[in-house]
Amino acid sequence: MGAEQNEQKGISRREVLIGTGVFAAGAALGHLGGFVKTASAKEGPANQWPWPYVKLDPAKTAELAYNEWYRVFCGAAVINSVFSQLEEKIGEPYKSFPKDAFVFLEGGQVGWGTICGSPAGANIVANCIIGPRIAGSPVAHQISGDIMEWYSETKLPVYVPNNPKIDPKLIVQTTSDSPLCHISVGRWMKAANQPLKSAERKDRCARVAASTAYRVVELLNDWHDGKYTPVATFSAVKEHGITGQFNCMDCHGNDVPEAPAPKA
Ligand code: HEC
Repeated sequence: MGAEQNEQKGISRREVLIGTGVFAAGAALGHLGGFVKTASAKEGPANQWPWPYVKLDPAKTAELAYNEWYRVFCGAAVINSVFSQLEEKIGEPYKSFPKDAFVFLEGGQVGWGTICGSPAGANIVANCIIGPRIAGSPVAHQISGDIMEWYSETKLPVYVPNNPKIDPKLIVQTTSDSPLCHISVGRWMKAANQPLKSAERKDRCARVAASTAYRVVELLNDWHDGKYTPVATFSAVKEHGITGQFNCMDCHGNDVPEAPAPKA
Protein backbone atom coordinates (compact mmCIF):
# COMPACT_ATOMS: atom_id res chain seq x y z
CA MET A 1 0.00 0.00 0.00
CA GLY A 2 1.49 3.38 -0.95
CA ALA A 3 1.88 6.20 1.53
CA GLU A 4 -0.81 8.24 -0.15
CA GLN A 5 -3.29 5.41 0.10
CA ASN A 6 -2.41 4.97 3.76
CA GLU A 7 -3.06 8.59 4.30
CA GLN A 8 -6.42 8.49 2.65
CA LYS A 9 -7.33 5.54 4.82
CA GLY A 10 -6.51 7.71 7.83
CA ILE A 11 -3.56 5.64 9.00
CA SER A 12 -1.30 8.11 10.74
CA ARG A 13 2.10 8.97 9.30
CA ARG A 14 3.57 7.78 12.56
CA GLU A 15 2.20 4.26 12.11
CA VAL A 16 3.56 4.24 8.58
CA LEU A 17 6.98 5.40 9.75
CA ILE A 18 7.13 2.88 12.55
CA GLY A 19 6.06 0.09 10.23
CA THR A 20 8.47 0.73 7.40
CA GLY A 21 11.82 1.54 8.99
CA VAL A 22 14.21 4.42 8.46
CA PHE A 23 15.10 3.88 4.84
CA ALA A 24 11.52 3.49 3.62
CA ALA A 25 10.44 6.33 5.90
CA GLY A 26 12.92 8.64 4.19
CA ALA A 27 11.54 7.61 0.81
CA ALA A 28 7.97 8.15 2.01
CA LEU A 29 8.85 11.62 3.28
CA GLY A 30 10.29 12.57 -0.08
CA HIS A 31 7.20 11.21 -1.73
CA LEU A 32 4.90 13.34 0.39
CA GLY A 33 6.85 16.53 -0.11
CA GLY A 34 7.66 17.00 3.58
CA PHE A 35 4.11 16.66 4.83
CA VAL A 36 5.36 15.74 8.31
CA LYS A 37 8.33 18.08 8.42
CA THR A 38 7.32 19.61 11.78
CA ALA A 39 7.10 16.22 13.47
CA SER A 40 10.15 14.94 15.28
CA ALA A 41 10.76 11.89 17.41
CA LYS A 42 10.40 14.09 20.50
CA GLU A 43 6.89 15.22 19.65
CA GLY A 44 3.83 13.24 20.64
CA PRO A 45 1.20 11.88 18.25
CA ALA A 46 -0.88 15.07 18.48
CA ASN A 47 1.84 16.93 16.54
CA GLN A 48 2.02 14.38 13.73
CA TRP A 49 -0.39 14.84 10.89
CA PRO A 50 -2.81 13.78 9.69
CA TRP A 51 -4.47 12.40 12.80
CA PRO A 52 -6.14 9.05 12.18
CA TYR A 53 -9.63 9.59 10.78
CA VAL A 54 -12.53 7.36 9.82
CA LYS A 55 -15.55 8.62 7.93
CA LEU A 56 -18.37 9.85 10.15
CA ASP A 57 -22.10 10.17 9.53
CA PRO A 58 -22.83 13.91 9.07
CA ALA A 59 -26.42 13.61 10.36
CA LYS A 60 -25.37 11.73 13.48
CA THR A 61 -22.65 14.34 14.09
CA ALA A 62 -25.17 17.17 13.69
CA GLU A 63 -27.52 15.55 16.18
CA LEU A 64 -24.69 15.22 18.71
CA ALA A 65 -23.73 18.88 18.16
CA TYR A 66 -27.35 20.02 18.60
CA ASN A 67 -27.68 18.35 21.99
CA GLU A 68 -24.16 19.24 23.09
CA TRP A 69 -24.87 22.94 22.41
CA TYR A 70 -27.11 22.98 25.47
CA ARG A 71 -24.12 21.94 27.61
CA VAL A 72 -21.04 23.64 26.09
CA PHE A 73 -22.42 26.04 23.40
CA CYS A 74 -21.47 26.51 19.77
CA GLY A 75 -17.70 26.11 19.37
CA ALA A 76 -17.20 23.26 21.82
CA ALA A 77 -20.41 21.57 20.60
CA VAL A 78 -18.99 21.34 17.05
CA ILE A 79 -15.61 20.10 18.32
CA ASN A 80 -17.09 17.54 20.72
CA SER A 81 -19.58 16.19 18.17
CA VAL A 82 -16.69 15.12 15.93
CA PHE A 83 -13.97 14.27 18.47
CA SER A 84 -16.23 12.27 20.81
CA GLN A 85 -17.00 9.86 17.96
CA LEU A 86 -13.34 9.61 16.90
CA GLU A 87 -12.32 9.05 20.50
CA GLU A 88 -14.71 6.12 20.64
CA LYS A 89 -13.71 4.68 17.25
CA ILE A 90 -9.95 5.41 17.38
CA GLY A 91 -8.81 6.63 20.83
CA GLU A 92 -5.72 8.86 20.80
CA PRO A 93 -4.99 11.66 20.20
CA TYR A 94 -8.70 12.46 20.55
CA LYS A 95 -8.83 10.99 24.04
CA SER A 96 -6.29 13.51 25.34
CA PHE A 97 -7.82 16.50 23.55
CA PRO A 98 -9.20 19.05 26.07
CA LYS A 99 -12.58 19.38 24.36
CA ASP A 100 -14.45 21.39 26.95
CA ALA A 101 -11.66 24.01 26.99
CA PHE A 102 -13.35 25.59 23.96
CA VAL A 103 -16.50 26.73 25.75
CA PHE A 104 -14.99 30.25 25.55
CA LEU A 105 -15.89 30.34 21.83
CA GLU A 106 -19.51 31.00 22.94
CA GLY A 107 -21.03 34.30 21.84
CA GLY A 108 -18.22 35.01 19.40
CA GLN A 109 -15.64 34.44 22.19
CA VAL A 110 -16.93 35.15 25.68
CA GLY A 111 -19.82 37.21 24.34
CA TRP A 112 -17.71 39.67 22.31
CA GLY A 113 -19.47 38.87 19.04
CA THR A 114 -16.32 38.20 17.00
CA ILE A 115 -16.10 34.97 14.95
CA CYS A 116 -19.11 32.68 15.50
CA GLY A 117 -18.02 29.67 17.55
CA SER A 118 -19.47 27.21 15.03
CA PRO A 119 -17.04 27.95 12.16
CA ALA A 120 -14.24 28.46 14.71
CA GLY A 121 -14.94 25.00 16.14
CA ALA A 122 -15.13 23.43 12.67
CA ASN A 123 -11.80 24.97 11.74
CA ILE A 124 -10.17 23.71 14.94
CA VAL A 125 -11.43 20.23 14.05
CA ALA A 126 -10.12 20.35 10.45
CA ASN A 127 -6.73 21.77 11.47
CA CYS A 128 -6.24 19.24 14.27
CA ILE A 129 -7.10 16.29 12.02
CA ILE A 130 -5.43 17.30 8.76
CA GLY A 131 -2.73 19.51 10.26
CA PRO A 132 -1.91 23.20 9.86
CA ARG A 133 -0.72 24.52 6.48
CA ILE A 134 2.83 24.97 7.85
CA ALA A 135 3.02 21.18 8.29
CA GLY A 136 2.90 20.81 4.52
CA SER A 137 -0.72 20.25 3.45
CA PRO A 138 -2.88 23.23 2.42
CA VAL A 139 -6.12 21.27 2.86
CA ALA A 140 -7.08 22.27 6.43
CA HIS A 141 -6.53 25.91 5.48
CA GLN A 142 -8.68 25.47 2.36
CA ILE A 143 -11.43 23.68 4.27
CA SER A 144 -11.39 26.52 6.82
CA GLY A 145 -11.88 29.07 4.02
CA ASP A 146 -14.71 26.96 2.65
CA ILE A 147 -16.36 26.82 6.08
CA MET A 148 -16.13 30.62 6.47
CA GLU A 149 -17.64 31.20 3.03
CA TRP A 150 -20.33 28.51 3.40
CA TYR A 151 -21.30 29.88 6.84
CA SER A 152 -21.54 33.43 5.51
CA GLU A 153 -23.50 32.62 2.35
CA THR A 154 -25.89 29.88 3.52
CA LYS A 155 -29.40 30.42 4.84
CA LEU A 156 -28.91 29.07 8.36
CA PRO A 157 -29.81 26.98 10.19
CA VAL A 158 -30.07 24.17 7.62
CA TYR A 159 -30.20 21.24 10.02
CA VAL A 160 -33.50 20.26 11.63
CA PRO A 161 -32.91 18.07 14.69
CA ASN A 162 -34.72 14.75 15.21
CA ASN A 163 -36.25 15.95 18.47
CA PRO A 164 -36.32 19.74 18.26
CA LYS A 165 -36.72 21.59 21.53
CA ILE A 166 -38.54 24.39 19.66
CA ASP A 167 -41.11 24.13 16.86
CA PRO A 168 -39.09 24.30 13.60
CA LYS A 169 -41.66 26.79 12.19
CA LEU A 170 -40.45 29.37 14.73
CA ILE A 171 -36.83 29.13 13.59
CA VAL A 172 -36.51 31.34 10.51
CA GLN A 173 -33.45 31.01 8.27
CA THR A 174 -31.18 33.99 7.63
CA THR A 175 -28.03 34.63 5.63
CA SER A 176 -25.41 36.39 7.75
CA ASP A 177 -23.11 37.57 4.91
CA SER A 178 -20.48 37.47 7.62
CA PRO A 179 -18.82 34.93 9.93
CA LEU A 180 -19.17 37.32 12.87
CA CYS A 181 -21.40 36.16 15.73
CA HIS A 182 -22.66 39.71 16.26
CA ILE A 183 -23.86 40.09 12.67
CA SER A 184 -25.10 36.50 12.28
CA VAL A 185 -27.09 36.52 15.52
CA GLY A 186 -28.18 40.14 15.01
CA ARG A 187 -29.64 39.49 11.56
CA TRP A 188 -31.46 36.44 12.84
CA MET A 189 -32.82 38.29 15.92
CA LYS A 190 -34.13 41.06 13.69
CA ALA A 191 -35.79 38.65 11.23
CA ALA A 192 -37.31 36.52 14.02
CA ASN A 193 -38.04 39.46 16.32
CA GLN A 194 -36.61 37.50 19.23
CA PRO A 195 -34.35 38.71 22.05
CA LEU A 196 -30.95 37.14 22.72
CA LYS A 197 -32.12 35.19 25.77
CA SER A 198 -35.17 33.66 24.06
CA ALA A 199 -35.48 29.88 23.76
CA GLU A 200 -35.91 30.40 20.00
CA ARG A 201 -32.55 32.23 19.61
CA LYS A 202 -30.79 29.56 21.65
CA ASP A 203 -32.30 26.79 19.55
CA ARG A 204 -31.35 28.65 16.37
CA CYS A 205 -27.72 28.76 17.50
CA ALA A 206 -27.81 25.07 18.51
CA ARG A 207 -29.03 24.29 14.98
CA VAL A 208 -26.36 26.50 13.42
CA ALA A 209 -23.76 24.50 15.37
CA ALA A 210 -25.40 21.27 14.16
CA SER A 211 -25.48 22.52 10.55
CA THR A 212 -21.78 23.47 10.73
CA ALA A 213 -20.80 20.12 12.27
CA TYR A 214 -22.66 18.41 9.41
CA ARG A 215 -20.80 20.49 6.82
CA VAL A 216 -17.30 20.00 8.23
CA VAL A 217 -17.82 16.22 8.40
CA GLU A 218 -18.91 16.22 4.74
CA LEU A 219 -15.68 18.04 3.86
CA LEU A 220 -13.52 15.75 6.03
CA ASN A 221 -15.13 12.68 4.48
CA ASP A 222 -14.37 14.06 1.01
CA TRP A 223 -10.76 14.69 2.02
CA HIS A 224 -10.53 11.15 3.43
CA ASP A 225 -11.82 9.76 0.11
CA GLY A 226 -9.37 11.92 -1.86
CA LYS A 227 -12.35 13.78 -3.37
CA TYR A 228 -11.98 17.19 -1.71
CA THR A 229 -11.66 20.23 -3.94
CA PRO A 230 -11.63 23.72 -2.41
CA VAL A 231 -14.45 26.08 -3.42
CA ALA A 232 -13.83 29.35 -1.54
CA THR A 233 -12.10 31.92 -3.69
CA PHE A 234 -12.33 35.11 -1.63
CA SER A 235 -9.23 36.52 0.04
CA ALA A 236 -9.40 40.08 1.42
CA VAL A 237 -5.64 39.92 1.92
CA LYS A 238 -5.03 39.27 -1.79
CA GLU A 239 -7.82 41.45 -3.15
CA HIS A 240 -7.76 44.41 -0.75
CA GLY A 241 -4.40 44.30 1.03
CA ILE A 242 -6.04 43.91 4.46
CA THR A 243 -7.43 41.00 6.45
CA GLY A 244 -11.22 41.06 6.30
CA GLN A 245 -14.56 39.69 5.25
CA PHE A 246 -16.24 40.24 1.91
CA ASN A 247 -19.09 42.42 3.20
CA CYS A 248 -17.06 45.65 3.15
CA MET A 249 -20.09 47.88 2.67
CA ASP A 250 -21.95 46.50 5.70
CA CYS A 251 -19.58 48.47 7.89
CA HIS A 252 -18.07 51.09 5.58
CA GLY A 253 -21.16 52.01 3.56
CA ASN A 254 -20.29 53.39 0.13
CA ASP A 255 -16.98 54.71 1.39
CA VAL A 256 -14.81 51.56 1.53
CA PRO A 257 -11.26 52.71 2.32
CA GLU A 258 -8.26 51.48 0.38
CA ALA A 259 -5.36 49.94 2.23
CA PRO A 260 -1.95 51.59 1.84
CA ALA A 261 -0.27 50.12 -1.25
CA PRO A 262 2.27 47.35 -0.64
CA LYS A 263 5.89 48.51 -0.56
CA ALA A 264 7.90 47.55 -3.62
C1 HEC B 1 -17.30 44.18 10.44
C2 HEC B 1 -17.15 45.55 9.95
C3 HEC B 1 -16.15 45.75 8.82
C4 HEC B 1 -16.07 45.07 7.63
C5 HEC B 1 -16.95 43.94 7.15
C6 HEC B 1 -14.97 45.67 6.89
N1 HEC B 1 -14.41 46.66 7.62
FE1 HEC B 1 -12.78 47.74 7.08
N2 HEC B 1 -12.76 48.60 8.91
C7 HEC B 1 -13.79 48.54 9.82
C8 HEC B 1 -13.53 49.48 10.90
C9 HEC B 1 -14.43 49.75 12.09
C10 HEC B 1 -12.29 50.08 10.59
C11 HEC B 1 -11.55 51.18 11.36
C12 HEC B 1 -11.99 52.46 10.72
C13 HEC B 1 -11.38 53.69 11.38
O1 HEC B 1 -10.79 53.62 12.46
O2 HEC B 1 -11.52 54.74 10.76
C14 HEC B 1 -11.84 49.51 9.34
C15 HEC B 1 -10.66 49.83 8.69
C16 HEC B 1 -10.35 49.50 7.38
C17 HEC B 1 -9.14 49.94 6.68
C18 HEC B 1 -7.98 50.70 7.29
C19 HEC B 1 -7.81 52.04 6.71
C20 HEC B 1 -8.93 52.99 6.98
O3 HEC B 1 -9.07 53.89 6.16
O4 HEC B 1 -9.66 52.88 7.96
C21 HEC B 1 -9.26 49.50 5.40
C22 HEC B 1 -8.27 49.68 4.27
C23 HEC B 1 -10.51 48.72 5.33
N3 HEC B 1 -11.12 48.78 6.55
C24 HEC B 1 -10.97 48.12 4.18
C25 HEC B 1 -12.00 47.21 4.18
C26 HEC B 1 -12.31 46.37 3.05
C27 HEC B 1 -11.66 46.45 1.69
C28 HEC B 1 -13.31 45.55 3.47
C29 HEC B 1 -13.96 44.42 2.66
C30 HEC B 1 -13.01 43.49 2.07
C31 HEC B 1 -13.63 45.88 4.86
N4 HEC B 1 -12.81 46.89 5.26
C32 HEC B 1 -14.60 45.24 5.63
C33 HEC B 1 -14.87 47.70 9.79
C34 HEC B 1 -15.11 46.77 8.80
